[in-house]
Amino acid sequence: MAATPIAVVTGASSGIGAATARQLAAAGFRVVLTARREDRIEALAAEIIEAGHEATAYALDVTDRAAVDEFATAFRSLAVLVNNAGGALGADPVATGDPADWRQMYETNVIGTLNVTQALLPALTASGDGTVVILSSTAALSSYEGGGGYVAAKHGEHVLAETLRLEIVGTPVRVIEVAPGMVRTEEFATTRFRGDTEKAAKVYAGVDAPLTASDVADTITWAVTRPSHVNIDLLVVRPRAQASNTKIHRTL
Ligand SMILES: NC(=O)c1ccc[n+]([C@@H]2O[C@H](COP(=O)([O-])OP(=O)(O)OC[C@H]3O[C@@H](n4cnc5c(N)ncnc54)[C@H](OP(=O)(O)O)[C@@H]3O)[C@@H](O)[C@H]2O)c1
Repeated sequence: MAATPIAVVTGASSGIGAATARQLAAAGFRVVLTARREDRIEALAAEIIEAGHEATAYALDVTDRAAVDEFATAFRSLAVLVNNAGGALGADPVATGDPADWRQMYETNVIGTLNVTQALLPALTASGDGTVVILSSTAALSSYEGGGGYVAAKHGEHVLAETLRLEIVGTPVRVIEVAPGMVRTEEFATTRFRGDTEKAAKVYAGVDAPLTASDVADTITWAVTRPSHVNIDLLVVRPRAQASNTKIHRTL
């Protein structure tokens, strides 16, 4: 009997990562959940096992290269890596934005993705049929006021995805970039505004049905379950009420 294919999901302790872990497990992958908050990924792994699927949890900070390398030693063969860990910090204009926020966003979104992808690429290649997913954002494709540091970091992830795809063509690994627009997750906007739930709520105010974590997990799961020769290079997904990063219909 063939072994169950393994999918590693970073940032699986909340939002899109948690929803993706649930859906990939239901699609037949043994999911390996990683994030810094161990209690949350352990609880989610237990929930997935309870539902009759396979899951394990491994606490990991994607910016810690030594820890990422240690994590990667567990894999000789890997089917799917979902680079989802990331997020935004602040919404200040370029004129006053804190360089520390910019640095941290670059470190988590770009270097974190680079660390995990580099460390697991040998196992993805060894599988004979690997998939790297990079969760960027529509912020990876165009700018918006107050988005500078996040937009710069997500553009960095977009470039990483495009460059990697060029460099490894001919190997049995595909690179899929999923770029969501507005997704209402429990923590994304609250983290961005450092716990200010009022400011966070304003992001979604009056928007008829922002995407949910489950909507994005659905697009990721669809993309990675296409036949091996089909590469969804870039999948942009937005709520119907959002035509661009700045053109959002609000009923206020
Ligand atoms: N929500 C949106 O509107 C939206 C739109 C487009 C793209 N995205 C992108 O989608 C991804 C997930 O967003 P989300 O909305 O689900 O946000 P979220 O609920 O805030 O989840 C972020 C996840 O990243 C993990 N994380 C953060 N820093 C980490 C680190 N250094 N090491 C390991 N894990 C880390 C967090 O886990 P721990 O804190 O436990 O480590 C958490 O699981 C992000 O890359 C985000 O930029 C979000």
